[in-house]
Order: sequence, then C-alpha cells, then structure tokens
Amino acid sequence: LGLHRRVDCYLGDYLSQKSGSTESFQDNVFSRSNSSCSIATDDGLFEQPEPLPQSKAAMEKIVWRRSVQMRSQQQAWQESSEGIKMLEFRRNLPAYKEKDALLMAISQYQVVIISGETGCGKTTQIPQFILESEIESVHGALCSIICTQPRRISAMSVSERVAAERGEKLGETVGYKVRLEGMKGRDTHLLFCTTGILLRRLLVDRNLKGVTHVIVDEIHERGMNEDFLLIVLKDLLPRRPELRLILMSATLDAELFSSYFGGAPMVHIPGFTYPVHTHFLENILEMTGYKLTQYNQIDDYGQEKTWKMNKQAPRKRKSQIASSVEDALRAADFKDFTPETLESVSCWNPDCIGFNLIEYLLCYICEKERPGAVLVFLTGWDDISSLKDKLQSHYILGDTRRVLLLACHGSMASAEQRLIFDEPEDGVRKIVLATNIAETSITINDVVFVIDCGKAKETSYDALNNTPCLLPSWISKVSAKQRRGRAGRVQPGECYHLYPRCVYEAFADYQLPEILRTPLQSLCLQIKSLKLGSISEFLSRALQSPELLAVQNAIEYLKIIGALDENENLTVLGRYLTMLPMEPKLGKMLILGAIFNCLDPILTVVAGLSVRDPFLTPFDKKDLAEAAKAQFSRDYSDHLALVRAYEGWNNAEKDLAGYEYCWKNFLSAQSMKAIDALRREFYSLLKDTGLVDSTTTTCNSWSYDVHLLRAVICYGLYPGICSVVHNEKSFSLKTMEDGQVLLYSNSVNAKESKIPYPWLVFNEKIKVNSIFLRDSTAVSDSVLLLFGGNISMGDTDGHLKMLGGYLEFFMKPAVAEMYRSLRRELDVLIQNK
Ligand code: CDP
Ligand code: MG
Repeated sequence: LGLHRRVDCYLGDYLSQKSGSTESFQDNVFSRSNSSCSIATDDGLFEQPEPLPQSKAAMEKIVWRRSVQMRSQQQAWQESSEGIKMLEFRRNLPAYKEKDALLMAISQYQVVIISGETGCGKTTQIPQFILESEIESVHGALCSIICTQPRRISAMSVSERVAAERGEKLGETVGYKVRLEGMKGRDTHLLFCTTGILLRRLLVDRNLKGVTHVIVDEIHERGMNEDFLLIVLKDLLPRRPELRLILMSATLDAELFSSYFGGAPMVHIPGFTYPVHTHFLENILEMTGYKLTQYNQIDDYGQEKTWKMNKQAPRKRKSQIASSVEDALRAADFKDFTPETLESVSCWNPDCIGFNLIEYLLCYICEKERPGAVLVFLTGWDDISSLKDKLQSHYILGDTRRVLLLACHGSMASAEQRLIFDEPEDGVRKIVLATNIAETSITINDVVFVIDCGKAKETSYDALNNTPCLLPSWISKVSAKQRRGRAGRVQPGECYHLYPRCVYEAFADYQLPEILRTPLQSLCLQIKSLKLGSISEFLSRALQSPELLAVQNAIEYLKIIGALDENENLTVLGRYLTMLPMEPKLGKMLILGAIFNCLDPILTVVAGLSVRDPFLTPFDKKDLAEAAKAQFSRDYSDHLALVRAYEGWNNAEKDLAGYEYCWKNFLSAQSMKAIDALRREFYSLLKDTGLVDSTTTTCNSWSYDVHLLRAVICYGLYPGICSVVHNEKSFSLKTMEDGQVLLYSNSVNAKESKIPYPWLVFNEKIKVNSIFLRDSTAVSDSVLLLFGGNISMGDTDGHLKMLGGYLEFFMKPAVAEMYRSLRRELDVLIQNK
C-alpha cells in the first residue's frame, strides 16, 4: 500500500512539478531542446535576423540592403564557370519551363497544387523560384519559406543540393532542420524540414508567425503527418491571408487536394521519360533459364530469413514450403495469382526467394548489359544490409574495382548519401540498394536498370506517429509505375519486377492513406497537444476521414493507459507522451524507467520492441539456438532475456568481439546494432523532455532490480495482459477478450512447464489460426495491482472497474478481495491527502 501511494504520488507530483503549468509547459519543452542543438535552434524556425528597428523607414532600409547584397552574390555566382554549368543544368529541368506560370499562380492564389513526374525539379527548383522572385522583390530579405519532406534524408540531401545550386554553403540562405540535427543561420530564408518538425513548430506557434510560404512536398504519399498537417493548415489559412500554401505531388491525383482546398488551381509540369522495357517474373525466369525446381535451392539460402518467414506464417517444413511454392507456381502457370494467394503460399516473399534472383540479375547486368546504374527496391533497412552483406562476398558483385555497391535508406549518414548521387568511375557499375525512398523523394540521375521486389515497409523513427516494425506489404500500381519510371531518366531502361504480371494486375491502384490503415493513438495525442478540440470532430475534417470506430478505439485505449482523462483532455502523462515519437506504450515505459532510475535496461526493452527479433533459430541448429537463448532466460520474460543478451553483446562489442558473441549466441548482429542506435536516439529524446538529467553519463540507471523492471514493463504493456491457468503438467493462458491464447514457440515462457506468476503482460497478439502472443513477461498480483492501469490519475474508480473486471473474470476471489480492500484504503488515503 505504501508502495502504491509512493508510485501514485511520485509519478503524479513528479510529472506535474516537471511540467509546471500547462501554458509554460510546452515552452519549457522547447527551450530545453534548444540547448542540445548548436547551429539549429528550435525556438522558431526563422528567428528575426536581428531586433527590428522601430521605424518603418529604418526597417525598409535594412531589408533593401540585404536584398541588394543577396542579388549581387547570386549574380557573381551565376557568372562563375561552376555557376554557369549549374544554371545550365537547372534550365534543362522541365520545372524551369513552367517557372513563370508557377510564380504567377502562387502570387494570385493562396493555395496552389503542383504535380509533375519525379525528377522534373519540383523539390529543388520550386522553392528556389519563390526565393529568387522574393529576393528580386522589395521584400526580399523578409521572406521565409518552409518546405516539408516526409523523411529526414530527403530534407538533408535536398537542402544540400539547393545550396550547391546557389553556390552557397548549407546554413546560409538555405538550411534544413530534422529532429536532433539542423543547419540554419541568421540569414536562412529557405528551410527544408521534416513534416514532424513543422508540426512541432505549430505546437508553440499556431499562426506560423513570420513564415511567408509553406510548401508541403510529396503529398501523394498520403502519410499520416502530411494529412494531419493539411487539416491544421486549412484551418490556419483564413487567419493568415497573406500566407501561401503550395502542395507538390509526383502523381496526377491533384483533384482530390484541389477540391479539399475549395478548388485551388493545379499546375502540371509535363515531364519526359524514355521508354522502359518491363520484365515480370515469368519473363525473368525464362530469360535467365532459372528453373522452378531451383526454388528449393533458393529457399535454402539464408537460414535467418527462412526462419523469420516461418515465425510469422503457420509453421511448415522448409522442403514443404519450397515444393508448395514450386507446385503452386507450376500449376497456376502464374495466371491465377493474386497478391493474397501468392502470400498464402507460405514462403513466397521477394525478400526471401528474391535475394537469389536479385543476385542473379545483378550479375547478368554487370556481365552482359550496357553501362548504367542499377537501382534495387527492397523493403527496409534490414533487408538492404543483409543483401549487401551477401553481395559483398560475391566474386563479381563484391569486386570494388568493378562494382560500387551503395545503400539508400532513411537512417543513413549524410556522407553515405552523397555517394549515391555521384557518377562512378568509368568501368565501375553503381548498384544502389534502396527502400521506397528512391521511388519519388530521391532521384538518382544515371539509373538505367531497376529491380523491384514489389513490397514496401516504412519504418521511420522520425515521424510523430511511429508504428515500428511494420511487416512488408505489396505496393500499389502507382508505386510500381514510379519504380519502373526510375529506369528511363537518361536513356531507355529496363525494369525487372520480381512478381508475375497477374499479381501486378491485382495490386490496388493507390495505396490507402496511412490515416486509414494505421492505429490512431499517437495522432489523437497530437491533436490534443495542439489543442485542436474534439478528436473525432477534428478528424472528420481530414482529406479522407478514418472510421469512427477506429477513432473511438484509439481514444478508449488512451483513456485506459492514462494519457487522456474521462473528458478526453490530456493528462500530465499524456503531455509527456506527445513529446516521445513512438507508440504510447513504449513512451510510458521510458517515462517510468526514467523516474525509477532503471532507464538503461528499459531503453533496451523499448528499442528491442522496435526492431526485428534478434534471437535467431536456424532450422538445422534449432536445439543449439534454443540452448543459447535459454542462458538469457531466467526471469520468465522475453523482454529481460533481451536485456541480458544486449548486455552481453555490449560488453563483447567493447572488445570488438560483438560479431563473435552474436555468432556464438545465435543473435543477429544487425538487430543488436539497431537496438544500440535506437537506445541512443530514445535517450536523447528523453533528455529533450527533461525527464533525465542530461549531465549524467550513466543513462539514469542504478537499478537492475528485476522486480522493478517487471513493474515498469507491466506499466507500459497494460492492458496487454493474460492470466496463467496451471494444470497438472503445464499451463494455459486466457485473456478477457479472446479466451484461450497461445505463446509463440520462440518465447522463453513457451519452454517452461510452470510459470510461478499468475499473469503475463504481452506486447502484441497476432491471429494466425489461433491467437498467439509475442514477447511476454510474467508479473505478480501486486505488480499488476500497483502498476497495471493508470496510476497517477487518482482515478480509483476507473482502475477498480478495469482491474476488478479482470480479477473477477478470472475468478480469483481472494485476490479480488485483497485488491478491493487495498484500493478502498488507498481511496481514504488519497482523500485525506
Ligand atoms: O522533386 P522532383 O522529383 O520533381 O525533382 P528534384 O528532386 O527537384 O530533382 C531535380 C533534379 O535535380 C533531378 O535531375 C535530380 O537528379 C537532381 N538532383 C541532384 O542532382 N542531386 C540532388 N541531391 C537532388 C536532385
Ligand atoms: Mg521531390
């Protein structure tokens, strides 16, 4: 009882104390995060260059002087030999021909929608046109243009390119700002930033004071952040009549946006691409002489992949899978496949079978084809790095004198990015392994060959509403067309789709907008933190509104976890969660971990839940792998097993023996590295919130007490909870909603015959015939009573109802009674307090 009181008071008081009053709270957050940035400050995307002078005349003089200065600088650059070349390049872009029409439309209308093929110069040229025309005008030095990008890598690479086109250093007139990084100075008038950054900016400055133009790029992607931003901007326009909004899209579906903004004018930039010869899977197999029987062999490659596939699909033996793929493909002769049926052939997956085909095609291109870069579309960072590893050991593709092998994905370093755009030396073939980031937001000029795996997965840790660990899904026809189009930029190209034509025919025309297909919890929190009123009312004004049920589910969940109160207002906890761009449950764990000084292991748990499972189980070494995992599992917890594995890896890594450690213990070194990187990222996020002392180096952690860790994990994962029912020899599991549930066989708890705890909290349940739980941790009655549900809200009734329901459902009268009396006493205590 004392403990609960302490938890309750501690968390409530602690967070309230930290945050202060509601109003000053957000200011604090932002001023705190400023201190961590050197060049970029968050205290306004555009600070006024210097205090404005009192008189209008004096101000005009300064503005005029600055414009003259900028004009003469540009003139000098455009007369230099480099500058002439650059201008020549720019003039040849399709966008340049539409410059006047574009500027005219922008000056006449508050909202303009621009569409044009990828590579026509939308992102690099249009913001520049506006900037140049503003500098030419009297207001030159006062304009401030924000151009949002869905991903941080494009914000960085585009700003660098634009600065180079203007013959400047980054951070002068042109800058960028992404989370935790940025380059901008006093004279920055054009800023590329991620959509998330602009949304955060709107938190503290609802009217975007001082901003003259907002350009929202890549709206065709229909990301959640972009759709959200459009609602907010639509509300803002009447309040800021002089603000200009420009929407840019790589596809032609501009009407939807135009009608959303009351019939805004649309400008299309006609583009030009060379014809692209398309090969589908059947053609590729024919062309390469690849016999279907060889699928067996393909399937044999890469134990990790094969194992991964089976973890997610119903279990089948490898040979069974291979022959079923073969039989199905042969019998169907490709004609009757749809994306779904192809999926149901358990092991069909481009990133599994496809790897060998990709290797084969790349060799074929290197040996037999004309010069030109190759762009390979894969699903995500992990596939890119495993394919890269595989190719590097190949006798042709791994030969650096012949092949320049590069990766292109959202979380790469900037130095690596630049290499993608450079032309390789003569005789060297550039091969870029990319995610769908290269579909529309990044253009590699010299691509002639495209290999398309047909799937995509977005995992972005920058977005405000991150849903990590998405499974790869089939792309849409529009995406396939975009990917194909990448091959025809400089000359006629070739595109290899690693799926049969009939599957392509069955693809959806467009991908569903993210807002219609992902959980809305984080979005709801953002709506509340921006004080945008009722969640459902606000979302009903979206371009395409999500289902009411989905909205209600999200609100209900947020209430259960204590982020919203009964009246849908943000609680203190909720406000902290809005600052952590991750699923609320993960944010909750981090917050409690920080408060209870056990952050270090909790960082590992949270990072581990955001990447692919690092524990590998190769088919032929299943027993050894299980034995290796067993060393880490003494706590009846998958989460804590991971903590132990990470600790071991981290120690080994210090002696540069990380790989060896992974090898010995059947761990994925890539996942371990990803966990390591994410831990650092999450830690710096927490520093921004002010919950951890930024001066300490100990990761806010002096406690590895497993009971405490169980409590923190329970606090995060609730209401993901099931009851352990012991029989004579084993145990079964039940949840309130689903009845009987099962554990994934790779869970440490699945190996136990008895679990000495009455409850398991779990991260995720997945329906594959039966309902399976992934990653669980055993907790005791008292931990569930004290940490399950929303502590810190004083909402005893709600908690009682919720937990009481659980206890009664599972008919544990003694515990239920104990719980009730505890809560009653607690009520009295709280009231007396
Ligand atoms: O936005 P959009 O797809 O219409 O094209 P863009 O990104 O503005 O690119 C216009 C041209 O600039 C393309 O030919 C790109 O290859 C080139 N570019 C470049 O060379 N280096 C960059 N970092 C970005 C673009
Ligand atoms: Mg672009």
